Amino acid sequence: MNYHVLTLFPEMILDGLNTSILGRAIKKDLISLEAVNIRDYAEERRKGRVDDYPYGGGAGMVMQAEPVYQAYQAVCGRIAERSEGKPRVIYLTPQGQVFHQTLAEELAREEDLIFLCGHYEGIDERVLEEIVTDYVSIGDYVLTGGELPSMVMIDAISRMVPGVLNNEESAQFESFQDNLLEYPQYSRPEEWRGKKVPEVLMSGHHGNVEQWRREKSLERTLERRPDLLETAELSQKDRKYLVNCKYKSSFF
Ligand code: ADE
Repeated sequence: MNYHVLTLFPEMILDGLNTSILGRAIKKDLISLEAVNIRDYAEERRKGRVDDYPYGGGAGMVMQAEPVYQAYQAVCGRIAERSEGKPRVIYLTPQGQVFHQTLAEELAREEDLIFLCGHYEGIDERVLEEIVTDYVSIGDYVLTGGELPSMVMIDAISRMVPGVLNNEESAQFESFQDNLLEYPQYSRPEEWRGKKVPEVLMSGHHGNVEQWRREKSLERTLERRPDLLETAELSQKDRKYLVNCKYKSSFF
């Protein structure tokens, strides 16, 4: 997987992603990351400036089409040297479809991804029409730019690239397996400030531990994200358990 991030703040992208699991994946050549400074493609006479006033008036500045297009073309030229076909271009915007795990899995199968990070009041619509394939939001709130959302997406997508997580790590992060939230975890000490680890986890009885974990996942999903249950993979036993939980909670 090769990421190409078009941005006004390349150091933010590189500093943010070159550590921990992603830093290791970059070193192992499982993923590559380039941050392309859009300012480098500013018109000569504008001396690094890439924004201008909006036609029709209004607050704020708009990022101009040409520097963004030139930065995009430069990346496409490099990609074309080793593969064919147009890469997907993701524009981060609160107006896009909301990012989710299934999209992360789909994007992880691409060889190259271009992320376009906007700032100010947005980017000239004409270049968006020309190059963007996917408009993506990371949630219903407004951030100051597309850098953090693109980093969030790159993190979530990279976890899905084969080899990025080792076995232990991939088994560990299973919050969305079967579309259920993960069960609670405990570590030493056995008692912390009067709170004990649930008995069953120390019983050594594998079957009971598995059942307890499944039940906690179901309870937690019902309590915190009941919307997920609509698409979760549930057995007859799971359904019975949930009906029981709902019945009990109706007394409180
Ligand atoms: N840019 C600003 N806010 C954003 C959001 N919530 N998601 C994606 N890009 C954004």
